[in-house]
Amino acid sequence: MVDFLDAAMARQARGQDIIRMEVGEPVFELPPRVAEAARSAVDGDHKGYTSSLGIPPLRQAIADFYRHRYAVDLDPERVVVTTGSSAALGMVCDLLLNPGDRLLLTDPGYPCNANFVRRCDALPARIPVDAENHYQPTPSAVASHWQQGTRALLVASPSNPTGDVLDAAAITGLNECVRARDGWLIVDEIYHGLCYTDGGLSTALACGEDIIVINSFSKYFAMPGWRLGWMVLPETAIPPVRLMTQNFFISPPAIAQHAALAAFHPESLAEFDARRETLRQRRDFLVPALRELGFTISHFPPGAFYVYAGIDGLADDCEDLCWQLLDQAGVSVTPGTDFGNHRAHRHVRFSYTAEPLPRLKEAVRRLAGVLGKPIPTDART
Ligand SMILES: Cc1ncc(COP(=O)(O)O)c(C=O)c1O
Repeated sequence: MVDFLDAAMARQARGQDIIRMEVGEPVFELPPRVAEAARSAVDGDHKGYTSSLGIPPLRQAIADFYRHRYAVDLDPERVVVTTGSSAALGMVCDLLLNPGDRLLLTDPGYPCNANFVRRCDALPARIPVDAENHYQPTPSAVASHWQQGTRALLVASPSNPTGDVLDAAAITGLNECVRARDGWLIVDEIYHGLCYTDGGLSTALACGEDIIVINSFSKYFAMPGWRLGWMVLPETAIPPVRLMTQNFFISPPAIAQHAALAAFHPESLAEFDARRETLRQRRDFLVPALRELGFTISHFPPGAFYVYAGIDGLADDCEDLCWQLLDQAGVSVTPGTDFGNHRAHRHVRFSYTAEPLPRLKEAVRRLAGVLGKPIPTDART
């Protein structure tokens, strides 16, 4: 895996003007209430460990969030606050997998998942997903990849790197398929709240109490460095997970938890929701512009802040293309090979979270120059 993030940052440190489209984290100001809550937490007596499952008011606030936003009644006792969703993903693997077991993942998908599985001496088994199925697995694909020793299916909606989603019917179908095989469905909803289709998305929690849902303060809430996430588990999983959190982490970070409480204030939520429109405008510019440059994008990605683009006709290999774009255009993007094997070298991922619209237009103009294409109309001004 080549780290284009490091390569981009090294060039920036040398004074080069790099347009950062490899970044996977939102770059927005903290809402004033969140910043204020963090300052008060520092001034208050919050220097100690907290309950290993998270402070009760935050677990309650998360449960309330599901009620208000998704009309789902959730017992806060089923909510576990974690050190980023990374800790949740790792613990769910620890909970479900024994050595030699298999966990089904999508290819392409979030690259770290396979390593959480390997950490348990279990096997990540990848289901190739394509544009025809909006880069999400179907129940029949899951059934054909399910073998003895398979314990669970992990999907993300919206997903990284494609931004594709699963609606309630699709989640229900996957859950039925997995439950029929005595397995578990894990849904990573870390990009929830960043969905540009009307009405947003319904949470997997609405589709079954036995579905494991993971979320985070890193994307919609734009607090990635605060290292805070959560998971919602069936009641029976709470005692073993409590033991894990006590042993592995002691507790999630205290100051971050107190700051996160203010993220659920209506004013903060209104600010997060307003950013969705900013991101949607960037996506709506980028997709047609990249198509005009010759990238293949089968459909508008409905969520997250990524465009997974095919490079057939532009280059033979994604890593060579990424180096060319970085070196000659000063535009940093991520090669598809970071996200799996299935047709990965024929794709790159553009992220539109870190740069404002005028810089994305500048990026498209630079790409046109390097690729020898006319400047797309919308990038001319
Ligand atoms: C799909 C997905 N899941 C999980 C994570 C981990 O994020 P965090 O640990 O910051 O919550 C990421 C990070 O980019 C991601 O893209």
